[in-house]
Amino acid sequence: MLETESLTIRFGGHVAVNDVSCRYAPGTLTAIVGPNGAGKTTYFNLISGQLRASAGSVRLNGRDLTPLSAPARMHAGLGRAFQLTQLFPRLSARRDHAAADLPHGDQRKLEIAMLIALEPQVFMFDEPTAGMSVDDVPVVLELIREIKNDPSKTILLVEHKMDVVRELADRIVVLHNGQLMADGDPATVIASPIVQQAYLGMSPTEPKA
Ligand SMILES: Nc1ncnc2c1ncn2[C@@H]1O[C@H](COP(=O)(O)OP(=O)(O)OP(=O)(O)O)[C@@H](O)[C@H]1O
Ligand SMILES: [Mg+2]
Repeated sequence: MLETESLTIRFGGHVAVNDVSCRYAPGTLTAIVGPNGAGKTTYFNLISGQLRASAGSVRLNGRDLTPLSAPARMHAGLGRAFQLTQLFPRLSARRDHAAADLPHGDQRKLEIAMLIALEPQVFMFDEPTAGMSVDDVPVVLELIREIKNDPSKTILLVEHKMDVVRELADRIVVLHNGQLMADGDPATVIASPIVQQAYLGMSPTEPKA
């Protein structure tokens, strides 16, 4: 079980993640959605240790990871892929190609392969299909589905594409202005007026597109 409790970070006067308490159970895939700047990547950074929390804690299987560095959290079981791909650009990926020379879609797939090779308990994906060709998207979704088939793995997925969210998510958490705004099963969360208004940009009374 991964838990964040009252997780908070302030940048000067701006509270980018504000008092977010949530639990993520093994065998579940939770989509984390919200508008640009809502705090999704920052929330991931706080969980994986790229950023230090101003307040609150991160626990995995009851163990407090909050004081640990990012590499130590990775060794504890938290695996994380990045919104902007982070590779070892000069190492070979295919025998005769440096990672930096691969097409964008292959770079993203390589990052996911690196993550899978670490065998983490928790997989965190930050917009894994962003900027990918239509041919590459199903490959990545299939990889995520395979991970999901393992009941010991916990998956957190930041994703803007609602069709992907609908297909993969067991649960949706909505962040808005750094705060947890909704949390529940996909159908209920997507239909909720607060999400229709704040995330999908509709007024609650407007008919759905
Ligand atoms: N290191 C930082 N210093 C100052 N402000 C930051 C920092 N990192 C993030 N922010 C701010 O925190 C807020 C949340 O940013 P974040 O990148 O987490 O949003 P996001 O939900 O991932 O958005 P997107 O969907 O565009 O990826 C934004 O207002 C951003 O400018
Ligand atoms: Mg982001």
